[in-house]
Amino acid sequence: MSFTQVPIRPARLNRSELAVPGSSPHFFEKAARSEADIVFLDLEDSVAPDQKEQARKNVIAAINDIDWGDKTLSVRINGLDTPWMYRDLVEVLEQAGERLDLIMIPKVGTAADVYAVDMLVTQIEQAKGRKKRVGFELIIETALGMMNVEAIAAASPRNESLHFGVADYAASTRARTTGIGGANPDYAMLTDASPEGQRARHWCDPWHYPLSRMIVAARAHGLRPIDGPFGDFKDAEGFQAQARRAVALGCEGKWAIHPSQIALANAVFTPPAHEVERARRILAAMEEAERAGRGAVQLDGRLIDIASIRQAKAIVAMAERIAKASA
Ligand code: GLV
Ligand code: MG
Repeated sequence: MSFTQVPIRPARLNRSELAVPGSSPHFFEKAARSEADIVFLDLEDSVAPDQKEQARKNVIAAINDIDWGDKTLSVRINGLDTPWMYRDLVEVLEQAGERLDLIMIPKVGTAADVYAVDMLVTQIEQAKGRKKRVGFELIIETALGMMNVEAIAAASPRNESLHFGVADYAASTRARTTGIGGANPDYAMLTDASPEGQRARHWCDPWHYPLSRMIVAARAHGLRPIDGPFGDFKDAEGFQAQARRAVALGCEGKWAIHPSQIALANAVFTPPAHEVERARRILAAMEEAERAGRGAVQLDGRLIDIASIRQAKAIVAMAERIAKASA
């Protein structure tokens, strides 16, 4: 381990994160009863400019009046370049009660963006005597934000997670696509011709680089990396494929922009039972090894060592959090 210690953030389940437009209060109760680990009430891009003020009122009332159970509750504020963001923070934090857990900041471009929001939130918390410190979820969805992702991840002790906002990222980098996430047939390679002259076409993942880059920055700073939206909500198979490649790289969860995506995300980001069982056996075998004064042992014909303990502990801790949440 490095001598540099990464601060511990609150451990939360973040397998599915349901987006709910603040201008659609008729969805709020259903969101509260859903199986989503986190719900974010949106004041940003799903709300039209002439609805912004009403959406803010709806969101404040929802935080105060609805029973959100043990869900983590977040509000996505407007961007720092808009005329709405300061009132989003002031009104939500002054009028909504302690039930609010997180503020989601969109289109973060530099560490100073996070610093500015932190300064304002800190003042309001102090002035109002709020007891619970609100955490931050940061969306990385612009070329500038991706370029500064390491500094952004380190910008505030309130930071809890980084989210890959694929739609705005595509717009910002001018990637030629109009979908939200998913594949692009133009991003493909042709194999060399076979002796019969045939060439295979292999589709590649256009989002691999930015997602990987964001994951490394998040993990280096002890934050949860979360994959953002998948627009075609009728394509469950496509969603699952996106989620599986995100979990393979290290993401802890994915957005659901439609309730049908919640169960899909929860399933993919829950460690499978056989993995949890193997992790527990690794921990037991390593305890045994420690007692015998050895640093490495064999389990099922494969070598395991002290590094295996860290992986196994992470899987068991996640499984225990999930079991507790569903108890
Ligand atoms: C999310 O905000 C996105 O732009 O994908
Ligand atoms: Mg966006």
